[in-house]
Amino acid sequence: MESRHLLQPSDFSIAEINDMLRLAKRIIQNPIAYSEVCKGKVLASLFYEPSTRTKFSFDTAMLRLGGQVIGFSDPTTSSTAKGETVADSALTISKYADIIVVRHPKEGTARLMSKHAECPVINAGDGGHMHPTQTLTDLLTIVSYKPEIKDLTVGVCGDLKFGRTIHSLVTCLARFENIRFVFISPDELKMPVYVKDELNKMGVEYTETSSLDESIGSLDILYMSRVQRERFISEEDYLRLKDYFILTKEKMKHAKEDMIVMHPLPRVNEIATEVDSDPRAVYFHQVKYGMYVRMALIMTLLGIKDPLCE
Ligand code: NCD
Repeated sequence: MESRHLLQPSDFSIAEINDMLRLAKRIIQNPIAYSEVCKGKVLASLFYEPSTRTKFSFDTAMLRLGGQVIGFSDPTTSSTAKGETVADSALTISKYADIIVVRHPKEGTARLMSKHAECPVINAGDGGHMHPTQTLTDLLTIVSYKPEIKDLTVGVCGDLKFGRTIHSLVTCLARFENIRFVFISPDELKMPVYVKDELNKMGVEYTETSSLDESIGSLDILYMSRVQRERFISEEDYLRLKDYFILTKEKMKHAKEDMIVMHPLPRVNEIATEVDSDPRAVYFHQVKYGMYVRMALIMTLLGIKDPLCE
């Protein structure tokens, strides 16, 4: 049977995404019931780029499902250092593992691996392109704080050009009912045309601005992001743009009382630590949702039935 992969959020229908979010919520309610469902299964986690949350949340997700984890977070210790292609690595590793998670600096690597692997492949971030499991994390966070993913004005602020979490989230949220976007960035870091083209095709409303102050009051969700230093060509440009937006307590005074502030993390300077104690700041809760939704994803891709729904 052909393996199912998650390379970008559109690989799953909204109905399937909602099913996964519901499964994640059931896992949160009763984690013990799921603690053995992946017994005997092995996840390979291949990180060709730095990671804290994504790697550890996948690893703990598999361990909490009773499975085991192999992999590397430093590709210089793998055969990549000898010149092996990612295609050959994918085929080889899929002989050992039941599911592969890969993060790579080059756009399209997860897709390439999925063509060669004999098991499901999950894209844990490919260059500045997509990061679908962060999107699932973000969606689970939203449904935990808002009644529905519907009728929301979502502000996305920071590095919209290189932020893969943003490209994934925006193209996915656009498929839900009545979502409007406010894209907040300096001119040099605007949302890529391919994302805007997709929204235009779907008839989804968005505005673009460089002012967080002017837009914050209209938002139900503010999604902050760091300037992606590693994807800049010039260090000078990075230094000029890195502190363009800093969310402070003062700015939060102008936000709605039920607005939530999200961030995929890591944070650099774009949210002052004084905001962390604001009940609307949910980014550290978001981290935990990431682990639960990845548990749901692993179960789904491995075709493991929910023991509570038999
Ligand atoms: C993000 C990533 O790697 O794209 N981090 C994450 O997975 N939570 C965001 C970032 O690095 O800015």
